[in-house]
Amino acid sequence: MAETRQSIHGQWTSRFAFILAATGAAVGLGNIWKFPYIAGENGGGAFVLVYLLCILLVGGPLLMSEILLGRRGRQNPINSIRSIAKDENRSKYWAVIGLMGIVASFLILSYYSVIAGWALDYVFKSGMGQFAGQNAQSIDATFDKFIANPWALIFWHTIIIGFTVFVVARGVQKGIESAVRFMFPLMVVLLLILVGYAMDTGYFFKGVEFLFHPDFAKLTPEGFLTALGHAFFTLSLATGSIMMYGAYVPKQSSIATAAIWIIIADTAVALISGLAIFPMVFANGLVPSAGPGLIFQTLPIAFGQMGFGRIFGTLFFIMLVIAAFTSAISLLEPTVAWLMERLKIMRLQATIFAGIGIWLLGIGTVLSFNAMPGHFLFGMNFFDFLDYLTANILLPLGGLLMIIFTAWVLPRHTTEDELNMKGKVYYRLWLYGSRFITPFAILVVFLGSLGLFNGF
Ligand code: PHE
Repeated sequence: MAETRQSIHGQWTSRFAFILAATGAAVGLGNIWKFPYIAGENGGGAFVLVYLLCILLVGGPLLMSEILLGRRGRQNPINSIRSIAKDENRSKYWAVIGLMGIVASFLILSYYSVIAGWALDYVFKSGMGQFAGQNAQSIDATFDKFIANPWALIFWHTIIIGFTVFVVARGVQKGIESAVRFMFPLMVVLLLILVGYAMDTGYFFKGVEFLFHPDFAKLTPEGFLTALGHAFFTLSLATGSIMMYGAYVPKQSSIATAAIWIIIADTAVALISGLAIFPMVFANGLVPSAGPGLIFQTLPIAFGQMGFGRIFGTLFFIMLVIAAFTSAISLLEPTVAWLMERLKIMRLQATIFAGIGIWLLGIGTVLSFNAMPGHFLFGMNFFDFLDYLTANILLPLGGLLMIIFTAWVLPRHTTEDELNMKGKVYYRLWLYGSRFITPFAILVVFLGSLGLFNGF
């Protein structure tokens, strides 16, 4: 029965450890690399507002749902959902939600690790003073030359996957929890140092204005979908990562409180990163809409021109690597748990198998920047395609099914019990929000972006 189910993979030492690990999973390249450039591409303020709404109306309820499912199922995402459905006499096919999550986490990690590898390379480039005094052309040339070399990208990709495998292979407490306990606080300290540095540019309030002054003319239907997809991506939702981490949460912990902390921390890091990055961009006469190259092309120009830029640039990229790393380990865990349960193999073996598969797929992303830059599918290269497929399709769709399953399909007393919210008014807030707001918000944005409302 659900009450007595135990995870074969272990447990966090405390609720705090869970919050830390889940926040480490949430805060990553999405917050520091992706959020600033998609905000830049979509005109800033108005996009940020839509993103915040998505976090509130979709992210919050779903985060609670996903932790709830993990803790009740206590297995890999597929088996967890299948067991819960069975307990409640519901169709076992709901387990497809878990399958979609595992597939999404596998695909995401394959490209995530390549980009994290860029950041690692840039720690050294910056540390060796390669940006000092350079102009925009030479910094662009450095970046272009770097990504044109598949061997360099494969080298860093291998290092990131290698360390990720090493940590995950050590298990929930000795591996994941101890790594995050040490890395997450370090990342926060570095971030705060960098905002201090950005405040010193004299352009801090231009950064604030860019992020918070809404200009709705710049927002497209595609921009809404990007904001929704990003809300999923940044909170690590619908990939099974949060469900896995939820499977290791001690029974008595309050899920709602944990979810609130994770959301506050994740949103704060995204906004604070924006406040660290945009002032430096403006102070050096650069534009914020550079796309994925924003922090690898635009920002190094700024570091190259600013006082102590070599030190702060290096700290910036170290922060990025740490943030990415605590997310990478959470992306590996669902596949590892699935392999262990499915093939009845040891954690070490499962982690190595999963690592090899993800490493191989990552080569596709590496080659998107050099050997096969052309179109892979739908006018996108392999990397853009994976990014679009995961963030804009698989995650929203998986999230939609998941919220329907928890809020509509599971009996009320089950969710009420698992959330430890018997008779609480907050329970009703979660339930009605999850029934009537979250699924419709996802649907409207999703269909809207396909152009289905054109002409209304
Ligand atoms: N949330 C992470 C980020 O913002 C990415 C991630 C997605 C991690 C899904 C785990 C699962 O970078």
